[in-house]
Amino acid sequence: MIQRVRGTRDFRPEEMWKRNWLSETLRKIARSYGYREVLTPVIETAELFVTKSGPGVLNEMYSFTDKGGRELSLRPELTAPIIRFFVNDLRDEPLPIKLFSISNCFRYEEPQLGRYREFFHFDVEIIGSDDPDADAELLSMSNSICRSLGLREYSYRIGHVGIVRERLDRAGVDRQKQSEFLHLIDKKRLKEAEELLASSGTRTADVNDIMHICSLKGDVSLLSGLGSAAEQLHETVRIAEACGLGDHTIDLGVVRGLDYYTGMVFEIDYPSLGAEKQICGGGAYRLSHLFGGPDVPCTGFAFGFDRLLIAAEKQTAPPPEPVPDALIIPLPPVDRAYAAALSQELRASGLSVETDLMNRTLSKALKYASSRGARFAVIIGEKEMKEGIVLLRNMSTGEQKGLERERLASAIRA
Ligand code: HAM
Repeated sequence: MIQRVRGTRDFRPEEMWKRNWLSETLRKIARSYGYREVLTPVIETAELFVTKSGPGVLNEMYSFTDKGGRELSLRPELTAPIIRFFVNDLRDEPLPIKLFSISNCFRYEEPQLGRYREFFHFDVEIIGSDDPDADAELLSMSNSICRSLGLREYSYRIGHVGIVRERLDRAGVDRQKQSEFLHLIDKKRLKEAEELLASSGTRTADVNDIMHICSLKGDVSLLSGLGSAAEQLHETVRIAEACGLGDHTIDLGVVRGLDYYTGMVFEIDYPSLGAEKQICGGGAYRLSHLFGGPDVPCTGFAFGFDRLLIAAEKQTAPPPEPVPDALIIPLPPVDRAYAAALSQELRASGLSVETDLMNRTLSKALKYASSRGARFAVIIGEKEMKEGIVLLRNMSTGEQKGLERERLASAIRA
């Protein structure tokens, strides 16, 4: 038996029903904020991600050389592809451009519940602004998503990489070392982060100051006196609070695993998910100029779609999967075309109808109808066909009656 690839999943019909329910809920919320949906390819040139994704994502990328000798990658995330799309085709649209996408991404990680090698992002990007209002809109929208899914114990950790980067710049730490340092801070490997700075010739006073900044956690009051980036963050949080932002902490140790962030950054945790409790991450960044476009500020976030669904299901029961209204059962020697045409007629009137495709006996066809949860079975024998009638069987009561073909749709609907 050929097995599926480790870290990937097949989704059963009932799971797809729930996933589509979540997608539709997310689409509705995104549209209510004026975002429009896009879709980009699964494969991109590897270069797109090498430029700015950072060591975390690069080590986990699925990359390969195609038959034409091109270095390609399966996308590990959607931000870089969406900004490439903007640079290629959307740059003439008026700013801000507000986009979202629901797509699969690939990272070579150790699989466990909530962590997969193929997973899905609900990604949102604002191209053209990273003003406090834009950052605040993202906090507010992600909050609306958590609220509308009934999540209760979610919490935000909000930081600003600019505050840390400003100090790293001042201390003379080069960009490559900054990236390594921030990656270690993101992974909470604080001792190693401190040693990295010290070993690269940073003054002890600067190392202590930077490590102190990264350890700051609390309410917005900790931002006073930390400079203009901190003031901007304060304003972002003030606006988001006015829109009902849920439980949140300012945490300057939140610097994110991807290398492109320049401003406000945030993560949302949902503790009852255990080890993989981070359901969303995002922030303000600049990427467009690296792909040959204008240097526009951007800001965005991505929910881990799979984790969000696990969290949502703990609180909200998705609506039940719909069942067929009827299964049409033509009994031999009834013409299959007669039955198929009848099904077609019922579908055209708005009903969901299946026809028995297995040429089953009546008892087996009824068993199938009940396993599918069909509300009615429509039985057509030779006699019924000749008389232009059908037998309509209510699958929950077992009650069965003959009626004219023309009255079938309204009887099922009633
Ligand atoms: P990220 O934090 O790498 O951010 O991914 C966003 C979310 O995807 C995570 O918070 C997590 O819930 C989920 N996730 C990540 N890896 C996996 C995995 N292996 N299996 C299941 N879920 C996973 C980004 O990718 C940025 N592009 C977000 C962004 C958009 N920033 C600005 N715009």
